[in-house]
Amino acid sequence: MAELSKQHWSAQRYAATAHFVPAFGAPVVELLDPKPGERILDLGCGDGVLTAKIAAAGATVVAVDAAPDMVAAAQAKGLDARVCPGQNLAFEREFDAVFSNAALHWMHPPETVIAGVARALKPGGRFVAEMGGHNNTAAIQVAFRAVLARRGIEALSLSPWYFPSAAAYGAKLEAAGFSVEDIAIIPRPTPLEAGMDAWLDAFADDFFAPLAPADRAAAKQEIIDLLQPILRDETGLWIADYVRLRFKAVLPG
Ligand code: BEZ
Repeated sequence: MAELSKQHWSAQRYAATAHFVPAFGAPVVELLDPKPGERILDLGCGDGVLTAKIAAAGATVVAVDAAPDMVAAAQAKGLDARVCPGQNLAFEREFDAVFSNAALHWMHPPETVIAGVARALKPGGRFVAEMGGHNNTAAIQVAFRAVLARRGIEALSLSPWYFPSAAAYGAKLEAAGFSVEDIAIIPRPTPLEAGMDAWLDAFADDFFAPLAPADRAAAKQEIIDLLQPILRDETGLWIADYVRLRFKAVLPG
């Protein structure tokens, strides 16, 4: 697993090809159940679409993300957004809740991130999140393994992603002092209206990074050709094999 992702985050590209990410975030905001007057940290806020929804419920939200371009997009929405990788949280006992959607799987090591979340929360505070879970994008990862193996590269050694099972992540939360109230793996086939090519551009830079620039387009096409019979339906729509891990964990009061 790559410790520091080589992914290049562009807020403009994200809004064009990955707007489904916050659009699918409603159930995790519902599980968060933000209340007026609460102070909430949005960890891995992206361009702030869900941060704004949480703030609209009357909470005061601080949003952090490692990607400066995404933070600038969140700030442009009038949000208190700051550049900060999830491994470097320096907050102490100041939040009623920490929220995260579709971001924790980019942050390594998970124990460091969870410890920072626990420190950031007040006693009795809650950590409510959704991330990629075990088997997330399995077909896509196998396609990378096949295509990069032809070039002598083990793709999983390049992966920036961490997709844990409920048992594995629940154990890490408990080791950090949380009580896990709710944790579940939820398969969520995800339509990619912009297609697989755009998805690979938006999210998979780490796998292409070791290839010669002149070989990248060919490798990408091989991946698309492998995936097409599996992930593209008969209407031509790409549907990615997303699996979510959603949880609510609480610190002792
Ligand atoms: C996800 O949200 O599950 C995800 C997004 C991009 C790459 C890999 C996984």
